[in-house]
Amino acid sequence: MTTIAASPEPTIETKALPNATITVEGKSYEFPVIVGTEGEKAIDTRNLRSTTGYIAFDEGFGNTGSCLSDITYIDGEKGILRHRGVPIEQLAERSTFLCTAYLIIYGKLPNRPQLEAFRDKIRNATALHEDFRHHFQGFPPSSHPMAILSSMSNALGCYYPEMTSNDRERDLEYFDDAAALLISKVRNIAAMSHRMHAGLPYNYPRKDLRYVENFLHMMFSEPYDDYEPTPEVTQALDLFLLLHADHEQNCSTSTVRMVASGGANLFASVSAGICALWGPLHGGANAAVIRMLQDIHDSGDDGSKFIEAAKSGKARLMGFGHRVYKNYDPRAKILGKAAERLLNSLGKTDALLDIARRLESAALSDEYFVERKLYPNVDFYSGIILKAIGIPVSMFTVMFAIGRMPGWIANWHEVALNNKRIYRPRQIFTGPVKTDYVPIDQRC
Ligand code: CMC
Repeated sequence: MTTIAASPEPTIETKALPNATITVEGKSYEFPVIVGTEGEKAIDTRNLRSTTGYIAFDEGFGNTGSCLSDITYIDGEKGILRHRGVPIEQLAERSTFLCTAYLIIYGKLPNRPQLEAFRDKIRNATALHEDFRHHFQGFPPSSHPMAILSSMSNALGCYYPEMTSNDRERDLEYFDDAAALLISKVRNIAAMSHRMHAGLPYNYPRKDLRYVENFLHMMFSEPYDDYEPTPEVTQALDLFLLLHADHEQNCSTSTVRMVASGGANLFASVSAGICALWGPLHGGANAAVIRMLQDIHDSGDDGSKFIEAAKSGKARLMGFGHRVYKNYDPRAKILGKAAERLLNSLGKTDALLDIARRLESAALSDEYFVERKLYPNVDFYSGIILKAIGIPVSMFTVMFAIGRMPGWIANWHEVALNNKRIYRPRQIFTGPVKTDYVPIDQRC
């Protein structure tokens, strides 16, 4: 067990703003106002029910702050994304995935020795226990890689009982090791699920390779042919992972925090996050975008029929829209350019990129999309990059999961360090009122 750096704890910046007043049934109640470091305001309703008897109803949590967090800041109106204060554009241009992972998990950019120590820790954690092969053999060949990834991330914890005690203090003692293990081994599990699915022999990791190269080796090397990516491929994949590293309280991260709030260990919490990511409205969107673009291409449509179908509610323009961004998702801008750069470097063209560009410009000038402030999100161009690298569509959301691992880990850590209460929302019951039990022979 080694400690790399201490993690900061979230802080409540309460500026002296007047209380908010809520009036119900003619009675007024005052609630304090919380202000974030970027000026985001919230009415602190933690005592709402105990003082008024009412709860807040906010299906989908569009207006609910579920936590205080120091990790990631988004201004959806302005299209701003920052990790620990550092703008995503600067990270994309000057950082790497592992350096960004360190920033997200430990709260500051690492100096050289810290980064080297972090890299070494991840490199030394690469090998999977040999028994994992048996776990893989237990899955039918039809298994989706996301189902395998989620199960195996939880199974991984079984090999490290000292890190998965569900005793917060103990699990926190091993946090650095557990974080490095997950960031490292998620690649092996991902690559093994691909090899299994394709009926190919598994590749052992190589300690001489860096993070992304090692993953690509495990994915694509053959016993008779070592895979050597071009620097542009490595760089594009590193950028893809970096841009997915965290995104505050999205569906999967909230799931990780929810599970963590009950005291569950990091491995179990991340495994739940992977399941949450799988759906097409969240991380599954990257695969759905490529299928959509392929269908448009195969049907001979230039995109205009599809736009009409999306407007009429018959189809959904996947990779468009976002709960928080009401402006361009900055990650989509960066990925759109990166997709073009990668294709050029490989001397390839992709008709799907042309269709994506046409859909984007049609949507951005169409009243339906403009009115609803629907812009391309991170998933719109990312699949073009993954496809150009040769990653199968069934693995796209797995790639998202590899990238999101630092964010899940950092969020688990915040909960484990600071959260004293289990996450437990309430509901408004709309079912039948008290109904007496009817014996079986009297039921119609
Ligand atoms: N295509 C067509 N119409 C859309 C789209 C879309 N992609 N997204 C939203 N709308 C419409 C929606 O029908 C609604 O219209 P109306 O007001 O007439 O009912 C309006 O825009 C508001 O949409 P919403 O569904 O209330 O928005 P939301 O915040 O609940 O959902 C979303 C956000 C991302 C789930 C949604 O925009 C969507 O389904 N997008 C496509 C799937 C996608 O790309 N998901 C990836 C999200 S980003 C990465 C990640 O988190 O994993």
